[in-house]
Amino acid sequence: MLRIRRAGLRDLPEIYRVEKASFSDPWPLLAFLPYILEHDNMAFVAEEGRVVAFILAVREGGEVHIHDLAVAPEHRRKGIATALLAHVIREAKGARCLRLEVRASNTAARAFYQKQGFREAALLPSYYADGEDGILMIRDLAAD
Ligand SMILES: CC(C)(COP(=O)(O)OP(=O)(O)OC[C@H]1O[C@@H](n2cnc3c(N)ncnc32)[C@H](O)[C@@H]1OP(=O)(O)O)[C@@H](O)C(=O)NCCC(=O)NCCS
Repeated sequence: MLRIRRAGLRDLPEIYRVEKASFSDPWPLLAFLPYILEHDNMAFVAEEGRVVAFILAVREGGEVHIHDLAVAPEHRRKGIATALLAHVIREAKGARCLRLEVRASNTAARAFYQKQGFREAALLPSYYADGEDGILMIRDLAAD
């Protein structure tokens, strides 16, 4: 059974494992520390025996900015990212909108976020260090 809970320090190796399996340019291990240690941040893992996915989001004024979301490859298309996002939305009480940036080439993530009610709000030319464009995606929450 899937269980979603706040991430703790002991989850760091598993979060890093899922990150490395999910991105060609994974964050370094230590980049996850502030999200886990700073309790104002939203850092959640999904567990099915072991950690299979995580989401990191930060409140910025009336917005919630999703910084990272990944599901282990063998656990995709089972609704786990949908469940993690729903958890963040529940915790984001009072927020006006959710936003995030995604690589233009990341068609899976773009399709996922569109399915979740995000719109592609802006093209961010050369947003990433390797020169790739980003897409700013926004989901308004006021009407939810
Ligand atoms: C994007 C990602 C988080 C989606 O996780 P997931 O748990 O597989 O997503 P869900 O099962 O909740 O998908 C919900 C819906 O999103 C859409 N979707 C998800 N993955 C998709 C894909 N690869 N292609 C097309 N649509 C997709 C589908 O409509 C899906 O519903 P369906 O399975 O009934 O068709 C996952 O593919 C991932 O970890 N990718 C690598 C990391 C990444 O790109 N993270 C986001 C960057 S910010």
